Amino acid sequence: MTYRLFEEKHHASIYQRYRFVPPEEIRDIILHYLERKKGQPHVLAVDLGCGTGQNSRLLAPHFQEVVGIDISECQLEEARAVAGFNNITYRKGTAEELPFPDGSVDLLTAASAAHWFDQQRFLLEAGRVLKPCGCLALLGFADNIRLHYGSCGDRLTDIYDEFKKVLLPYTSTQVAVANTKLQDLYAAIPFPDKERIECIPLKQQISVRNIVGFIESFSMYQAFQRAEPDAATALLQRTHDSGMANRPFEGKEHATSYWKYRVSPSSQLIEEVMSFLKKKRGVQPFDLAVDVGCGSGQGTMLLAPHFSSMVGTDVSPAQLEVALEHATAPNTSEPTPEERRRRVDWTGDNLCLGPNSVALYKQSYDSIR
Ligand SMILES: C[S@@+](CC[C@H](N)C(=O)[O-])C[C@H]1O[C@@H](n2cnc3c(N)ncnc32)[C@H](O)[C@@H]1O
Repeated sequence: MTYRLFEEKHHASIYQRYRFVPPEEIRDIILHYLERKKGQPHVLAVDLGCGTGQNSRLLAPHFQEVVGIDISECQLEEARAVAGFNNITYRKGTAEELPFPDGSVDLLTAASAAHWFDQQRFLLEAGRVLKPCGCLALLGFADNIRLHYGSCGDRLTDIYDEFKKVLLPYTSTQVAVANTKLQDLYAAIPFPDKERIECIPLKQQISVRNIVGFIESFSMYQAFQRAEPDAATALLQRTHDSGMANRPFEGKEHATSYWKYRVSPSSQLIEEVMSFLKKKRGVQPFDLAVDVGCGSGQGTMLLAPHFSSMVGTDVSPAQLEVALEHATAPNTSEPTPEERRRRVDWTGDNLCLGPNSVALYKQSYDSIR
C-alpha cells in the first residue's frame, strides 16, 4: 500500500518553508560511516521520500550526483524550485521500485520518511540497488521536542504537547511507527553490519511562527484540517497566540514593567536627534516620524511633540497596548476604545494619520514600506 498524505500544493509549500534540515552532525555521521565501510568515490546518493529536498541538498556537496525520489509531485516541484544545486535531480517514484540498476547506489537515505514505505518491498529494493558495502541511512525525529524561551520554563513545551494531544485521533499508524523509532524496520534490515544511534540532541533557535509552521506540516494536522477546517485553523491560531504570549516582551505584565522601569531616552538625546534632523532636512515643520520597535512607547512619546504625526510600530500587541495606555504626549488626544482596537489590530489598510496624532500600530520592521 502506498500512502499519499503529502500531495497538496499548500502542504508542500509549508514543508519547504518550515521543515528542519537534518543537522550537519547527522550528515557527518552518515558520511563517516560510508567512508569507513565503502570508501571513496562517493558517486551516487539517493534520498528517498525526499519531500521538498532539505536532506538531498545537505548531501549534494559530498556526491557526484544526488537523486531525490518522492511520490508527491507537489513536494518535488517545491524541491526543484530551490536553485543552485546542479548535481541534484528530483524524480517522481516510490521507494519500493527504484529506477536504478543493481549495485549502482553508494548511499540510500530516507529522512522522516521510511515509516511510510512498504517495509519488505523497500528493504528488498534497497538490497538490490546498493553497491557492495554501500550504506542505507534512516533518519527520524524522536517525539520529545522541548521548547525553551528565556524564563518561560516548560510553558512553551506544554503548549506544544497540548496541541499534539488534540491531534492524537488524527495520528496515523505510520506516524505511531515513526514514534517507536522504527524499531521493527531496524530489526528487519537483513544487512550483516548495522548500527543504531539514538538521541542526538538537536538544539535550534526557532521563532514561534516557525514552530507553528513546523507543526502545521504534520500529516496529522493536515488530516485534522481536512476533517474540521475551522477547528484546525483556530487551534493553530491559539497555539501561535499562546506561544507569543509566553515570549518576553509579549506578556502584558512584562510590557507594563517595561513602561515602568525602562530608562527613557534622555531629553538631551532627543535634542541631539532633532538638531541632526534640522541640520540635514532643514524644512520644518516635520510631518511624520516612525518609531520602529517602539515597545511601550517611551521614546515615541518624547519624539511626538516635534512632529505633526508620530507612529510607533511593534510586533508585540501587549507592548502596544501599554503604549496606547500612556499615549498622552501634549499633541495627542487619548484614542477612543474603538480607535485603540482598530489601531492595535491594524492590518495595513487603514494607515491614515490625521495631524497631531500619535498612532501605534502592530507591525514588524520588515513590513514597513
Ligand atoms: C514526512 S515527509 C519527509 C520529507 C523529507 N525527507 C524531510 O525530511 O522533510 C515524507 C515524504 O515521503 C514521501 N513518501 C511517502 N511514501 C513514499 C513512498 N512509498 N515512496 C517514496 N516517497 C514516499 C511523501 O510524499 C513525503 O514527501
